[in-house]
Amino acid sequence: MTINQEHSAQEIFETLETLETSTEHAALQSVRWTGEQLLLLDQRLLPEEILYLDLKTPEDVWEAIRQLKVRGAPAIGIAAAYGIYLGVRHLTVDGRSEEDANQNLYQTVLEHAQYLATSRPTAVNLFWALDRMTNKTQVLLKAGLNLNQIKQAISEEAILIQAEDEETNRLIGEHALTLFEDGFGVLTHCNAGGLATSKYGTALAPFYLAKEKGMAIQVFADETRPVLQGARLTAFELQQAGIDVTLICDNMAGAVMAKGWIQAVIVGTDRVAANGDVANKIGTYSAAVLAKAHGIPFYVACPLSTLDLNTPTGADIPIEERHEDEITQGFGKRTAPKGVKVYNPAFDITPNEYVTAIITEKGIIRAPYTENLSRLLEQD
Ligand code: MRU
Repeated sequence: MTINQEHSAQEIFETLETLETSTEHAALQSVRWTGEQLLLLDQRLLPEEILYLDLKTPEDVWEAIRQLKVRGAPAIGIAAAYGIYLGVRHLTVDGRSEEDANQNLYQTVLEHAQYLATSRPTAVNLFWALDRMTNKTQVLLKAGLNLNQIKQAISEEAILIQAEDEETNRLIGEHALTLFEDGFGVLTHCNAGGLATSKYGTALAPFYLAKEKGMAIQVFADETRPVLQGARLTAFELQQAGIDVTLICDNMAGAVMAKGWIQAVIVGTDRVAANGDVANKIGTYSAAVLAKAHGIPFYVACPLSTLDLNTPTGADIPIEERHEDEITQGFGKRTAPKGVKVYNPAFDITPNEYVTAIITEKGIIRAPYTENLSRLLEQD
């Protein structure tokens, strides 16, 4: 993988200032398609360093997803969609008939989709985006287009996935904001913000919109061990946007709730099962149990693409386990004895009875989830 784009934080924020109006939310984009290059913000380096990587191949994208350079369910899906295009962009007819060249392209798309699907197992948006790209390719093939036209349309589909995500998140934010009042303290876990999506985020979208509307919300961000998405990413992006954010360690959430500082919890999700069980960053379940114990509503924000009606319950969602070093050496030095046994699941399941509501771009869904989620997707 080559790295040829490096901007200082100052350069990035100056550029963003010229792109955005002063009232609108300005943010770093985790995935940027320039029309020529796929630039990806290396989220492992935040908040200390802002570095854009120039990804050239599906292998680069696979590596970036696996290593959490890009992370967060929607952003993973967006990166993978561009990965499909990177895999076909240099294909030529190369002496084949037009039909054989198109078939070769389709096979290449399928192979890259299968390969990219092995990068991480839990976020269903990855598989959703890859299915959308392969289905689109099939439609394009049937439409009788030539190779270059199909390649162009594949790149446009990836751009569309990214653009739609931004609009979706704004709608999620609008719906979520109806659940909050001026002066609320709201706890969030992990990072379900602009960095995890194309813009705004899911769980963080209402905070950006509240800011635009002049509504005061005090956000509490769990630091989110072991990889610290809350500390490194949520606290960073909210602070950059001028939103009132207070960082706490994960084990402080109960104490903060007991003080009466939290009126709602809102998180994103990597996959919602058909019965409304929710997979999200490890520690989400603990936050949900604490919220219930304190009579605080627990909200989950996600696009429809995160709803997986093919997975009956949370027990059927594959949970990624990551390397022990994230726990034993996560702070850049060893913090546990060598050889100690480690269990490091990246996600947990919050059973549906802890979920007060699920907020999507189509509105707010409450229990019974099995009926209401399937009705919601039927409407779509
Ligand atoms: O391991 P990560 O950082 O990819 O986990 C991310 C999360 O758990 C997010 O909360 C989830 O993907 C929702 S992002 C809008």
